[in-house]
Amino acid sequence: MLSNSKILVVGGSSGIGFAVAQQALNAGAEVVIASRSLDKLQAAAKQFGGSVTVEQVDVSDEQAVIDFFARVGPFDHLAATIKPHLPSGKFLENDLAVVGAAFDAKFWGQYRLAKHAVRHIRPHGSIVLTSGVAARRSYPGYSAVSAMNAATEALVSAIAIELAPLRVNTVCPGFVDADTPIPGRVDYVKKLAPSLPLNRLGATKEIAAAYLYLFGNAYSTGSVIVVDGGVTC
Ligand SMILES: NC(=O)c1ccc[n+]([C@@H]2O[C@H](COP(=O)([O-])OP(=O)(O)OC[C@H]3O[C@@H](n4cnc5c(N)ncnc54)[C@H](OP(=O)(O)O)[C@@H]3O)[C@@H](O)[C@H]2O)c1
Repeated sequence: MLSNSKILVVGGSSGIGFAVAQQALNAGAEVVIASRSLDKLQAAAKQFGGSVTVEQVDVSDEQAVIDFFARVGPFDHLAATIKPHLPSGKFLENDLAVVGAAFDAKFWGQYRLAKHAVRHIRPHGSIVLTSGVAARRSYPGYSAVSAMNAATEALVSAIAIELAPLRVNTVCPGFVDADTPIPGRVDYVKKLAPSLPLNRLGATKEIAAAYLYLFGNAYSTGSVIVVDGGVTC
């Protein structure tokens, strides 16, 4: 389905992005994974048997994003699955510098990627950003995450109109059994599992399938695909 397509996965060195890269490869695409750490990228590439190209980029740096797209050249689809160090403290206790840095990577990082990707995307290509269920349901300690995810969904809806016929969509994951667990958060998330309608956390491959759907569906734009095991029911 994706043969002759070139797909960039920014945040593809682990978690959901890694699973997107895997499924894009399985579908016959040429895949580039990008993130900040060359070590993590090379370790991921090894798991793919060397069949992906790696590119180092920090999405907090606009010039680095511009240079990244110039190096990569024309491509078909962009997936952004960036997860910054997420502040999960109570609203009144959050350090604004930490919240700002997270917002800068997750929201503004995706904004920079979308803005500078456009002129490199081939006709019929698309952009898929990532939000998260905290945009739609509130959890104590997640105010900053809620705000950056909701901002991402609002951005996608707005730019889908401006950039059409280029398609821009979002995947909104629920709680995932991540392979790079964050200490502290992992216990909190695991405790949630029994309260979820499907009684378990999601798998990265289950979330990744939504990105593949959005790459391929030429009539989807401005959409949010929620894959959350029923959390927001
Ligand atoms: N996991 C969940 O339960 C869950 C739930 C809801 C939403 N989400 C969303 O889904 C997305 C993926 O989450 P995940 O759990 O799969 O994440 P993850 O495994 O932690 O992977 C995050 C990726 O982002 C890269 N990254 C972080 N900061 C970056 C930066 N400034 N520039 C470039 N790359 C950067 C990381 O690599 P480097 O460290 O090398 O940069 C890594 O490749 C995130 O947007 C997250 O908020 C996840």
